[in-house]
Formats: sequence, C-alpha cells, structure tokens
Amino acid sequence: MEFLKNLSTRTSHATFFILLCFFLVCTKNVQGRRHRKVDCFEYNAINCRSHTASLIDFGGVGDGVTSNTAAFQSAITHLSQFECKGGSLLFVPPGKWLTGSFNLTSHFTLFLHRDAVLLATQEVDEWPVIDPLPSYGRGRDAVGGRHISLVFGTNLTDVVITGDNGTIDGQGAPWWDKFRQGKLQYTRPYLIEIMFSQNVQISDITLVNSPSWNVHPVYCSDVIIRGLTILAPVRSPNTDGINPDSCTNTKIEDCYIVSGDDCVAVKSGWDEYGIAFAMPTKQLLIRRLTCISPTSAVIALGSEMSGGIQDVRAEDILAIDSESGVRIKTGVGRGGFVKDIYVKGMTMKTMKWAFWMTGNYGSHPDDKYDPNAYPIVRNINYRDMVAENVTMAARLEGIAGDPFSGICISNVTIQLAPTAKKVQWTCTDIAGVTSGVVPRPCDLLPEEQGGDVGGGCEFPLDNLAIDNVELRTCYEIVKYF
Ligand SMILES: *[C@@H]1O[C@H](CO)[C@@H](O)[C@H](O)[C@H]1NC(C)=O
Ligand SMILES: *[C@@H]1O[C@H](CO)[C@@H](O)[C@H](O)[C@H]1NC(C)=O
Ligand SMILES: *[C@@H]1O[C@H](CO)[C@@H](O)[C@H](O)[C@H]1NC(C)=O
Ligand SMILES: *[C@@H]1O[C@H](CO)[C@@H](O)[C@H](O)[C@H]1NC(C)=O
Ligand SMILES: *[C@@H]1O[C@H](CO)[C@@H](O)[C@H](O)[C@H]1NC(C)=O
Repeated sequence: MEFLKNLSTRTSHATFFILLCFFLVCTKNVQGRRHRKVDCFEYNAINCRSHTASLIDFGGVGDGVTSNTAAFQSAITHLSQFECKGGSLLFVPPGKWLTGSFNLTSHFTLFLHRDAVLLATQEVDEWPVIDPLPSYGRGRDAVGGRHISLVFGTNLTDVVITGDNGTIDGQGAPWWDKFRQGKLQYTRPYLIEIMFSQNVQISDITLVNSPSWNVHPVYCSDVIIRGLTILAPVRSPNTDGINPDSCTNTKIEDCYIVSGDDCVAVKSGWDEYGIAFAMPTKQLLIRRLTCISPTSAVIALGSEMSGGIQDVRAEDILAIDSESGVRIKTGVGRGGFVKDIYVKGMTMKTMKWAFWMTGNYGSHPDDKYDPNAYPIVRNINYRDMVAENVTMAARLEGIAGDPFSGICISNVTIQLAPTAKKVQWTCTDIAGVTSGVVPRPCDLLPEEQGGDVGGGCEFPLDNLAIDNVELRTCYEIVKYF
C-alpha cells in the first residue's frame, strides 16, 4: 500500500514537473525578458529542498575572472534561514565561477550545472588559515594551521554537493610547486572538506587538479559519495582521491579516479593525537571504483590510522597501472588498529605489487609519539581477484614482536610481467592462510587444509546500514539570467 502510494505520488510529480517545465520553457520569450533561461532538472539526493536560488541572484559573475567568493558566502548565509523551513538549494549555472573558499550550511544542496566550473582562486589570501585537525595535532605539509578547503562545512546535518557532472577545478599547480620547493607556510587546502557532520552526500561532479586531497569527510557519519570523476596529473603531490577519516557508516561507489596519490585513503588520525582523539573509521563500503594511480595505492589503509580502522568492505574494483592494490601502512608509534578488512572482486592490470603491507612507515607528527604504541593489524581478507602484468605478487612486512595476523587470501590469480621479480612473495612478521592463490604464497601463509568449502575467507553476509539508505528523486526548476 505504502509502496503504491509512493509510486503514484512519484509519477504524478514527474508528470506535473514535465508539464510545468514545458510551459515555462515555451513562454519565456513571450514574457520578453532577454537572456532569461529556465533549467528543469531531476537529481537523486538524500533530501529534496523547498527553496531554490541561483548564484546570479547574489551578484555571481561566471566570466572566469571576477571573484565570486562574496556571492557564494552571501548566497549561503541568506539560504541558511531555510534550514528549518524545508532546506535550500543553490544552483550554479553554466559559466566559469572563480572563487575562494566558502562554507556550507545545513539542510542545503550545492548543485552544479553540467557546464558550470568552480575555479579555485590562486590568491592565497582567499584561503583563510584554520586550526589543525585535533586528531593530527598539526598540518600535514607544515607544523601549525592549514588553509581551509575550497568547499568547507563543519557541524552540519543533511548537506549535499551534487550536479549534473559539473566541475570543480582546484588550479593546483602553484600549490604543487610550492610544496616541491618546500615553500609552503601552511598545509595546502583540499577541494571539499566536511567536518563533524551527519547525512552527507557528495555525488555526480568532476574534480580536477586539487592542490592536495580531493574529498575529505572527517569526523562524519552517514556519508554517501558516488559518481565522482577525480582527475589529477599522476605526478602531482598528495592528490589523493577520497579520504574517509574518522567517519562511521560511509559508502563510496561508482567513482573514477586518476591521481598522483592513493585513490581512496582510509584514515583516522596521527600518532599521539589520533590515539587521544580515538575516533575510528568504521563501516566503510567501497564499490565499483576504477583507479589509475601509478605512484600509489588503489585503496590505502593508513598511514594515519591511530584512531583505528574497522569493518571496511570493498568490491568490484578495477585498477589500472597502479603501484599497489590494497596497501596497509602503519608503524610503531601509531597505536590504533586495522581490523576486519574484506576486499573481493578486484581486477588489476599493470601493478608493481598486488598486495602490500608496511609496518615501518615512519613519518611522525613530532618526536612526542609513544614508542610503545604498537598498532594491531588483524583479520585481513582478500578473495576473488585476478591481476596481470604484475612485478611482484606481494610484499607483506609486519612489525617484529607485533605480527599482522589473521590474513586470509583466497582465489587469487596473479600473472607476472615479463620483467617480474624472481621472488614473488616477501613475508616477515605476518600470519595467516591462503587457498587457491597463484603464484604460490610464502611459507608464512600456508595453503589452508579442510574446511567444508575447501578453504576460502569468510566475508560478512549482512549489509552496512548506509547501503540501506535510499536516495529520493528531486525535481527542480531554476530561472536565471
Ligand atoms: C568558515 O568556517 C570556518 C571554521 O568554522 C571559519 O573559521 C571561517 O571563518 C568560516 N568562513 C566564513 C567566510 O564564514
Ligand atoms: C562542532 O562539533 C564538535 C564535536 O561535537 C565540537 O567540539 C565543536 O565545538 C563544534 N563546533 C562548532 C563551531 O559548533
Ligand atoms: C563527467 O565529466 C568527466 C570529465 O569531463 C568525464 O570524463 C566523465 O565521463 C563524465 N561523467 C559522466 C557520468 O558524464
Ligand atoms: C574466483 O574469482 C573469480 C573472479 O576473479 C570469480 O569469477 C570466481 O567465481 C571465483 N571462484 C570462486 C570459487 O569463488
Ligand atoms: C606491463 O607493465 C609494464 C611496466 O611494468 C608496462 O611498461 C607495459 O606496457 C605493460 N604491458 C601491458 C601489456 O600492459
């Protein structure tokens, strides 16, 4: 009954929407307003909004040279009054919208038209400096504060950044140069950072040339990231794709990432700061990811993992020309844990290492880290994978006196490159089992005997809560110019 009601409401909404849209488009010239455009669009989101405005209503100019920082800030300040009145949507029309950083509000959608490009300004003063993250204790590039991200939000509920594949261009080259020359005073900005927020959606947009990381949800819960195209030169420094950091219940799906660093890097704080903050990343689903990352990993866990990483499930992953498939990075001083990791259905083409675990990553925020803070790495499962043109199957290095345990690898076929290394597995300080893995694994990962299905790693059968969240179909009519 409920289903039928929903279905008929939906159908009548769609019909009404199409008729109204047709009417507005046909009558716009009769009204004699030159250059006026009507855009009708449909999109999927966690929530639809009852108030809509265009950036142009707030003085926005999409000529690629005029700054729109003030227009974005005043638009969103104005729209924040609708937080408790059905929420609001800010439409960014076709054009090139040069802007500095701006902050989002709650019950709010930022929508980019397919021909809209947000161009990040290269004026450093338009990137205010904010405090370091409490779980990191300092900026990653430099001690002290960090430049705020282009699109920033904190302490929000129900925030959506989406579009019809519109673009955010970070114009990152000057930042990469300053980083390489050691001339950064503060840590580089990210393109999108959402902190301390619930019910977050980032979808259907293209992100190019970020100064550093692209998408950084941190201290968030109930996060949906889907349909992103992320592009950066493969030699650009630290242009990670998506970095879920101390977040609970996150889904990343249908993303295409080419970058100069890890495509997805799962994090949870750095050494003593991360241990004290104690906020893990858990219940993370990664699905249908395509990654090209010649210098880094397709999915990295760490190296900042001091708040812990638990229950990560990844499936249907395509990796092309990447350094490693799944990589666990940690070290003494990190503390925390990486446990209950399940990755299946990965296809890898041209890789240096299919699997890589590093227990001596180093890189500490300062010299106050606890040398007795040993990380726990346990219950790591990989299955149903094929790889071709691989230089070395696996390099698995745990920590002396603190072995990485409960590793299970099954049904994995790795074809070697013509230039492959003679020794295909190097294993130290690890423990686990394998079944049906080619080439033959190291002695620390013996072939599992028995078991009613003849070996094979056990994967959870339930769904994560975020996978049960259904997006709504929203209809919008925006008039602009
Ligand atoms: C955006 O939020 C940050 C952090 O709360 C704050 O420091 C900054 O002043 C805000 N920017 C604006 C333009 O309000
Ligand atoms: C945001 O939330 C965090 C965690 O609950 C809190 O510590 C902080 O004070 C809040 N910030 C603002 C600006 O409300
Ligand atoms: C979005 O735009 C990017 C960059 O132009 C393109 O590669 C990608 O195929 C587009 N995605 C969709 C779904 O149209
Ligand atoms: C082994 O993995 C392949 C994908 O690489 C999959 O098609 C096949 O079904 C798997 N076999 C078993 C027994 O699970
Ligand atoms: C195999 O990998 C090497 C680099 O290790 C690359 O140069 C070569 O083009 C790859 N071959 C194929 C068939 O992809």
